[in-house]
Amino acid sequence: MTSAHNRVAVLHGVNFDILERRDPDAYGGLSLRELEQKIQRWAHDLGLEAIFFQTNAEGEFVEYLHRVPELADAALVNAGAWTHYSRAIGDALQVADLPAVEIHLSDVDSREDWRRVSVFDGLVLEKVSGRGPDGYRDALATLARALGVDGER
Ligand code: DQA
Repeated sequence: MTSAHNRVAVLHGVNFDILERRDPDAYGGLSLRELEQKIQRWAHDLGLEAIFFQTNAEGEFVEYLHRVPELADAALVNAGAWTHYSRAIGDALQVADLPAVEIHLSDVDSREDWRRVSVFDGLVLEKVSGRGPDGYRDALATLARALGVDGER
């Protein structure tokens, strides 16, 4: 049992297992493992404990969100393309009822119109988009503040 309230679940959705094979102009060419290693370091520096999850199955993503309140105190969510149409995932995040930030590597608002829509509107503390991997550090800092964790180690 921890009483620290510093655990952040970092969720990646569909197509993040092959991140290194996706358009490097949009996503930077790094692998999910490399991205998670950066996140792990930034989380540690902020006094947070990151736990990671990725799936290509929408139902598994929903079921993880059902469990997430038992596993973590906050959530950092990059649901990939599901962001733009999966009301089921939006509903599940609402039920989870945790401080959450929506994150995208690319700038979803300056790409195709369909990427501007988000099922997380109104459910998250902020939407971080277009800042590449560094955006995750900014998002973690937002969650650290929301959890009352004063980081910088
Ligand atoms: C993404 C943006 C989404 O539009 C896209 O479908 C992804 C990745 C991003 O991190 O920039 O899979 O979430």
